[in-house]
Amino acid sequence: MERIQSSVGISGVGAHVPERRVHNDELAGIMDTTDEWIYTHTGIRYRHIAADNEAASDLAARAGRHALEQAGLEPDDIDLVLVATSTPDYPGLPSTACVVQDKLGISRAGAMDLVAACTGFIYGIETARTFVAAGAARHVLVIGSEVYSRILNWEDRRTAVLFGDGAGAAVVSTLENSPDERGRSRILPAVLGSRGSGAESLCRLHGGTRHQYVPGVTPEAATLLQMEGRKVYNFAVSVIVEVIQDLLNQNDLTFDDITYVIPHQANTRIVTAAARRGDWDESRFFMNIEEYGNTSAASIPIALNELNEKGLLSRGDLLLFVGFGSGLTYGGNLVYW
Ligand code: ACO
Repeated sequence: MERIQSSVGISGVGAHVPERRVHNDELAGIMDTTDEWIYTHTGIRYRHIAADNEAASDLAARAGRHALEQAGLEPDDIDLVLVATSTPDYPGLPSTACVVQDKLGISRAGAMDLVAACTGFIYGIETARTFVAAGAARHVLVIGSEVYSRILNWEDRRTAVLFGDGAGAAVVSTLENSPDERGRSRILPAVLGSRGSGAESLCRLHGGTRHQYVPGVTPEAATLLQMEGRKVYNFAVSVIVEVIQDLLNQNDLTFDDITYVIPHQANTRIVTAAARRGDWDESRFFMNIEEYGNTSAASIPIALNELNEKGLLSRGDLLLFVGFGSGLTYGGNLVYW
């Protein structure tokens, strides 16, 4: 009798970005910057910007529906909706995940947001994996969705040029029917980390319960995204190397076993520096930052969806997601596709 083993894997992916595509030159028209500076310092040429009536849940629902279709699932197959976002529809409550649950007509699922900034999708995949592995869910919809254009200080060229809006999604499922190890997607345990001592190096300082927004007193800029770029850069390079090494060591793998690293798309130079420090082939790191900028929690699933849509993934390929961001947070997942 054939033994049916179950595993936790990815059964579908999807993405959605807003229609409006903004070239660096357009930003150079409203602030003191140039296409040349932005491209050579970051690798970014375009970003997509949400329309005034588009919020994080709108992008998330489009990406989520795409992932459900690809997984061949109906809305009611989903047991849990996780939305990783630091630009939610509403400040604090209700969760964006509940809005998405309603938009997608998912009627019997829990729904919650997850805040780990640009590492959010990685935290989300690990949360979903553990729910499914524990038998608490069969299918979890994980979405990273961001509308950073709403929280940027458009007068600060050091941050405004870096980010874009978008959403990406994956369905994490219990998979039972595939015939062999190579034919079955499988997610391995993640590496997750945090360094809260760096909380204010990448944050919105005012508007929460620490520093309340006081009308007429709080300057608008203090409610928007601010970042110590150099500090975050150095943190990013070191944790990318640490996470990749930890994931490889933990699983008795070498870098040669990895088909693609999908890094958080924050800056091409960060990835180049990390690849150099680890002595890894940079061409194995998939980048699409040129088109989207940094879409925070959405950047890894948007890149994953692009790899899949371009037909660049085969069953059994080993993918390594690695991310870092505000918190400070960092982490990585290993996924057999
Ligand atoms: N256009 C023109 N000049 C600029 C711009 C711009 N858009 N931005 C900065 N400059 C200038 C600065 O004013 C500075 O000029 P000065 O020396 O006369 O003061 C000069 O360029 C160099 O500035 P640095 O900040 O030192 O530039 P750096 O080479 O460090 O690049 C960058 C800045 C791209 C932000 C880099 O530090 C970086 O990538 N940091 C990490 C960012 C990151 O990953 N953030 C996302 C984390 S994810 C999340 O959770 C949201």
